Amino acid sequence: MSILQFRFAARLSRVPESFLDELFRVSADPAIISFAGGLPCTALIDTEGIARATNAVLEDDAGAALQYTTTDGYLPLREYIAQRYRARLGIAATADEIQIVNGSQQCLDLFAKIFLNPGDTVAMERPGYLGAIEAFSFYEPRISAVRLNDDGLDLTGFAHIISGEHPRFFYGIPNSQNPSGRTYSQDNRKAVAEILAPSDTIFYEDDAFGELFFDAKPRPPIKKYCPDQTVISGSFSKIIAPGMRIGWILAPRDIIQQFNIAKQAADLHSNFFCQKILHRYLTSCDIDARLRTITSVYQRKCRLMCELLDDLLPDLTHTHPEGGMFLMAELPPGLSSRRIFEEGIREHVAVLPGQPFYVDGGGNDTIRMNFSSPTEEQISEGLHRLTRVVRDLQ
Ligand SMILES: Cc1ncc(COP(=O)(O)O)c(C=O)c1O
Repeated sequence: MSILQFRFAARLSRVPESFLDELFRVSADPAIISFAGGLPCTALIDTEGIARATNAVLEDDAGAALQYTTTDGYLPLREYIAQRYRARLGIAATADEIQIVNGSQQCLDLFAKIFLNPGDTVAMERPGYLGAIEAFSFYEPRISAVRLNDDGLDLTGFAHIISGEHPRFFYGIPNSQNPSGRTYSQDNRKAVAEILAPSDTIFYEDDAFGELFFDAKPRPPIKKYCPDQTVISGSFSKIIAPGMRIGWILAPRDIIQQFNIAKQAADLHSNFFCQKILHRYLTSCDIDARLRTITSVYQRKCRLMCELLDDLLPDLTHTHPEGGMFLMAELPPGLSSRRIFEEGIREHVAVLPGQPFYVDGGGNDTIRMNFSSPTEEQISEGLHRLTRVVRDLQ
């Protein structure tokens, strides 16, 4: 055994212990029905269409597609993204305000890297996205949290934090939030923008799920109400294929300039081959038709999960997502989500305990449930198993 004591950086002690390792270990068993993960539905990945696009890119100019490229990303892909923002959401986006990243998860790291000094305040929703908590923690900030209600941010709490704590940025997911599945109402978005306007806090709008509304209608982003103070991140993971690891950030040019420097230092550029494949794919298929297929499947699964929860576990309350991939449930008094997780594994059903989503503690009475990945049969069987677990613990 080595006697060397590795001298890891002190910042590592600020990063929350990941529960995900344990989760992956236990849910690797194929007998377990998992509502704990966060995968899009594998059966809805258009593998044939992506294979055709890949062949076309290789036939066109394989050498160029497999070379190094510039840090900002493939221009036609950035133009496609900008055009879609203009057409779908009425935002005046241009390709030079867009930077391609290695999945939108990378935006969280690079954005925190260019904005946070140790001890600075960053604010987010409560509950908040676990991947953001982990990414921000490496930069040793104080993380403040604002309660997320059914119609969006708690405005009193938000105003209090913006004026009193002066966060460098506020990170939020207005569309089908992870973990809760909640969507900010339009009034809430306007009020958030009004509160933000007199401050110099940036709103970081993570829009991983904005194309996954069950009614296929776009919701106006907060960026629409305060364009200069907002950045948006987006991703092809949930709508095309997460394994490609292609996402983007749309931000004012001054931010893009610094972001680009950080991106170059991190990895030079994102996978150019995949960027070209994606662009070929997006311009040769009917993306809106594909989205309608995905959202109608997710809507059915979500509805089934909600109905079964209401029928089988009426003393458990849950959110009512309008889109996305998750819902959150609150357990009846006296039940702990950790116990539900542990006993669930024995019954071969996995749910995700809520605690890791609460930066300031709490959440032990909540669980996050994913409906995009399991089949309808698995949702039905899994909820019957979960019902037995809850009843045995009551
Ligand atoms: C809210 C949110 N943001 C960002 C990500 C990261 O996704 P990707 O890096 O695949 O774009 C996820 C992944 O689940 C997410 O839920």
